[in-house]
Amino acid sequence: MAYENILVETRGAVALITLNRPKALNALNSALMTELSTALDGFEADAEIRAIVITGSEKAFAAGADIKEMQSKTYMSAYLEDFITSWERVSRVRKPVIAAVAGYALGGGCELAMMCDFIIAADTAKFGQPEILLGVLPGAGGTQRLTRLVGKSKAMDLCLTGRMMDAAEAERSGLVSRVVPADKLIEEAVAAAEKIASLSLPAVMLTKEAVNRAYETTLAEGIRFERRVFHSMFSTEDQKEGMQAFIEKRPAVFRHR
Ligand code: CAA
Repeated sequence: MAYENILVETRGAVALITLNRPKALNALNSALMTELSTALDGFEADAEIRAIVITGSEKAFAAGADIKEMQSKTYMSAYLEDFITSWERVSRVRKPVIAAVAGYALGGGCELAMMCDFIIAADTAKFGQPEILLGVLPGAGGTQRLTRLVGKSKAMDLCLTGRMMDAAEAERSGLVSRVVPADKLIEEAVAAAEKIASLSLPAVMLTKEAVNRAYETTLAEGIRFERRVFHSMFSTEDQKEGMQAFIEKRPAVFRHR
C-alpha cells in the first residue's frame, strides 16, 4: 500500500515505520494516524514480522497532534468522531513495539512514544506535554501514562508548566530505557528489535502482556496472572528448545510456537 505520511520498510523480521511529515515536524494528523494504524494492522497480521520500530526524523519524532487540524474542532465534533480514541491502536499491538525518538516528542508525540513498549532516545531527544500552553491538556494518555512512568511530581511539573525535558532527564526519570548517540539511533533500535525478534514470539508476546498487566491491576492479581502464563509456557515447542539448548550448551533455534 502507498502511504503519504509514513514510510515503511522491513529488515528481516523487523518492521520499521518512519513518521514522515517533515514540513510539520511530523505533527500527527488524522491521515498520518490512519496510515499508522493500517501499517500496524498489516505487520501484526504478517507472520514474518516479530518486532516493530516506530521512529521519526532527526528533528522530530512528532511535535504533537496537528494543531492546525484540531484548532476548529467543537466539543460535539470531537465527541462524535471520538477524537484520539483510534490512536490507542498503537497500544493494542500484541507484538513488541519500540519507539526510537530523536528531536521533539511533544504532546501527542510523547504520548505516541509512551504507547510503545519502550523508548530508546537519541541524545537530541526532547520530551514534553506542552498542551497547557495551548489552553488544553494532554488527550492521548499523557496525564496517565507519563504519571505511571515518571511519578506524580515530574508529571505534574511537565504537564503544568509545559516545559521540555532532555534525553538525560528522561532517562533519569524512567521515561526512556536508554539514550544513544543520535547517529546510532536507528541502528540501536533495530538491533534491539532484531534481538527480540530472534527470541520465542509467544514468550515475547506473553511477556509484553504480563508487564502491561502491572499497570492495570493489583500486585497480587498481577502475580497470579504471571504464574498462570508462566505455567502455560511449558506447552510451547520454544520452551523445550530453549531449555534443551541451554543444557546442550548451544544457541537455541526458536520456531516461534
Ligand atoms: N501541529 C501542527 N503544525 C505543527 C506542529 C503541531 N503540533 N508543530 C510544529 N508544526 C509546524 C509549524 O506550524 C511550522 O509550520 P509552518 O512552517 O507552516 O509555519 C513547522 O511545523 C515547523 O515548526 P516551527 O517553525 O514552529 O519549528 P521550530 O523549530 O521553531 O519549533 C517546536 C519547534 C518547538 C516543536 C514548535 O513547532 C512547537 O512548539 N510545536 C507545537 C508543539 C505542541 O504544542 N504540541 C502539542 C500539540 S497538542 C496535542 O498533542 C494534544 C494531544 O495531547 C493529543
